[in-house]
Amino acid sequence: MSQPAATLSKPNLAVEFAGLKLKNPLMPASGTFGYGQEFAPYLDLNRLGAIVTKGLSLKPKAGNPTPRIAETVSGMLNAIGLQNVGVDAFIYEKMPFLAQFDSPVIVNFFGNTQDEYCEVAARLDVVPGVAALEMNISCPNVKQGGIVFGTDPKAVFEVVSAVRKRMKKPLIVKLTPNVTDIRITAQAAEDAGADVISLINTITGMSVDVRSRKPRIANVIGGLSGPGIRPIAVRMTHQVVQTVKIPVIGIGGIMRAEDALEFLIVGARAVQVGTANFVDPNAMQTILDDLRVFCIEQGVSDINDLIGSLQL
Ligand SMILES: Cc1cc2nc3c(=O)[nH]c(=O)nc-3n(C[C@H](O)[C@H](O)[C@H](O)COP(=O)(O)O)c2cc1C
Repeated sequence: MSQPAATLSKPNLAVEFAGLKLKNPLMPASGTFGYGQEFAPYLDLNRLGAIVTKGLSLKPKAGNPTPRIAETVSGMLNAIGLQNVGVDAFIYEKMPFLAQFDSPVIVNFFGNTQDEYCEVAARLDVVPGVAALEMNISCPNVKQGGIVFGTDPKAVFEVVSAVRKRMKKPLIVKLTPNVTDIRITAQAAEDAGADVISLINTITGMSVDVRSRKPRIANVIGGLSGPGIRPIAVRMTHQVVQTVKIPVIGIGGIMRAEDALEFLIVGARAVQVGTANFVDPNAMQTILDDLRVFCIEQGVSDINDLIGSLQL
């Protein structure tokens, strides 16, 4: 592939899908970037493809008892318990800060019942400056004995359909990997009207302190994230890309540019970086710089040429 020198030194990193225009395919993963403001001292939020907020619920949530985080050899175990300021405080106290950036703002949200999901979505949908909503379906359905919405294809279809009717902006549905076959829940989300699928959320895990013989997090079971989950996330992204027609955002263990590229090559249109932000709050800026270097070195003038370029 021979390209003019000018295009090679300035490869196009912009991507576009579901009406969203991103300067590049990199965005933070929900819950690892606060409400953006916390990371502003470390990196230029205007450089991000999009900004993704912590998950919001109808009412503020205090989260789980501590300890809520434990480090493991291959990643991080957390049971934060979806602590957040609630939708109203977000709109009035957090959104004005985010609105000053030209990177699209994607707001992550959840509910404990279908009605709660709908109510939060409807309120966020009309907030100026919100580009899209990301719906976290890895939450227990309190009316169904606590079964996680996202593990039951019927529940996925019902809750996504109900939310779809209450909002107009692009709807990203974020899947849980804690299922036998993620293609089935992905299909249910697409059938229900999702515009985009993002995956994966954390994988349930547990860690024990062998001296105290106690679980290392107070909630006993937590969610594993970080490098150890990446091959699982890449596999699931590949499977979902092959199954649905809507765009897919890849998430899971992205620490370096090469990790992000794995997801793009299997067909993700964008990626989210989570745990890496805790290791280095500037991680996304480094990944972005290295993505550019990779494109230049490989003679790729447009990152879109890499998306879905997997050789089988
Ligand atoms: C501390 C922490 C909090 C998280 N909070 C949320 C959340 O509020 N909503 C959500 O959809 N995902 C949440 N996640 C999941 C991440 O967005 C991401 O899907 C997962 O960590 C896998 O990506 P990673 O390996 O790059 O961290 C959280 C993850 C961590 C580690």
